[in-house]
Amino acid sequence: MSNHKFAVVVLAAGAGTRMRSQTPKVMHELAGLPLLGHALSTATALGAEHVISVVRHEREQIVDYISTFYPTAVIADQDEIPGTGRAVECALEVLPEGFEGTVVVTSGDVPLLDVGTIQAMVESHISGGYSATVLSAVLADPTGYGRIVRGINGDFEAIVEHRDATSEQHAISEVNAGVYVFDAQALREKLAAIGMENSQHEKYLTDVVAAEREAGKKVQALTVADNWLIAGINDRVQLGEVTAELNRRLCAAWQRAGVTILDPSSTWLDVTVSLAEDVTILPGTILKGFTSIGRGSTIGPEVQMVDTEVGENAKVVKSHVSTSKIGDGASVGPFAYLRPGTELGADGKIGTFVETKNAKIGAGSKVPHLSYVGDAEIGVESNIGAGTIFANYDGVNKHRSVIGSHVRTGSHNTFVAPITIGDGAYTAAGTTVRKDVAAGDLGMNVTPQRNMAGWVLQNRPGTKAAEAAEKSKN
Ligand code: UD1
Ligand code: MG
Repeated sequence: MSNHKFAVVVLAAGAGTRMRSQTPKVMHELAGLPLLGHALSTATALGAEHVISVVRHEREQIVDYISTFYPTAVIADQDEIPGTGRAVECALEVLPEGFEGTVVVTSGDVPLLDVGTIQAMVESHISGGYSATVLSAVLADPTGYGRIVRGINGDFEAIVEHRDATSEQHAISEVNAGVYVFDAQALREKLAAIGMENSQHEKYLTDVVAAEREAGKKVQALTVADNWLIAGINDRVQLGEVTAELNRRLCAAWQRAGVTILDPSSTWLDVTVSLAEDVTILPGTILKGFTSIGRGSTIGPEVQMVDTEVGENAKVVKSHVSTSKIGDGASVGPFAYLRPGTELGADGKIGTFVETKNAKIGAGSKVPHLSYVGDAEIGVESNIGAGTIFANYDGVNKHRSVIGSHVRTGSHNTFVAPITIGDGAYTAAGTTVRKDVAAGDLGMNVTPQRNMAGWVLQNRPGTKAAEAAEKSKN
């Protein structure tokens, strides 16, 4: 394949009405990538000289995505003439004048198609001297697909769309998967010649096959062994089915790579996630984006994590974590909420009912209970008392708090930012810390406590409290 010139065309100009969505069909997400992202990842991985995506419906959003994530792909605009044949014609127009070689055509709504299947098609196409090669599949329920029509001797003759087929042809279970390899020049000629005499009044790409055959060229249909690879997404039921199947495959691949996944059916992994050997994923865990988990770490049950890096031998239980870093041996949760910019050092702890944001918590430091830590930096081996609030927002601006190393802050403190607490300092329980505390000092608010003698007996006579107080005095 490497010394042969070829182009890949990804069709993405259709309306996708059956999704019933504001979002264009090919932009619906599947395991962390839009459907089109799956198709374009495969298309670009083939190493073609030209990758072309044909667009029309919801053009702006789709073009925006393509140019951001697949900048080497070339956009071709389909005009008002409808049909897959016209879409490919428009794609050929953006190729260099007189391009000779092979054209692979795939669809933006067929996400599981893999590089190996296309490579095998291209190799067979070239070595056999074919003019058109079509991928087919044998389906128990072929409804809706174009049928592969073969002659008495088994030779592939044509593709007939479901809605144009006779009842005899409806019985054919071999279908067109919508993936093709063509000779560029022959394709260009045939597309120019085919008409729109069909029930949809569209220019069908599938009509090229019969035209090639009539011109005495060789055509073939290669059957795919794994029908999931050619599953097309037309509605949200199919999207759900393909999502579940891809997830099963991803989980199985990670299990083979040394990851324990207790319950793949309740574990959801994006294709972009990476897991080391001896990671354990417990039920109800969703790992998204560029999340990576280091060796020996246990994630779950019930963790949702986005774009987060977890070191080795860490533990995260029942928590939401996004765009954060969790160090080796650290522990998080249950019920923790780590927002973007959280960095927890090695052996650190973010415990129960703790929210953090833009907070760097040093190695061995702990925020164990009921706290909010925002816009803060905490040194190493410090302990933040239960129920502490970092008051980072004055109603207009956000300010930073800096806590040193080996600091012990009391329970129920409020750190009014900007504030700095020196190394080895202490703060007393219940302190609203408004002034910096120097290294080694104890910070406390002196609010004298007043006890009013006999208040309960005077003001709450006859209550159980009064009764208990009286009993205790006698
Ligand atoms: C097509 C095939 C059918 C095959 C099936 C496999 C044709 C005529 N029929 O039917 O034989 O069994 O795929 O899934 O090709 N598109 C454009 N421009 C258009 C129309 C469609 O770019 O004018 C794109 C769509 O965005 C989509 C792809 O082409 O990515 C397929 O179009 P779709 O309308 O889904 O074709 P099917 O009816 O499924
Ligand atoms: Mg389709």
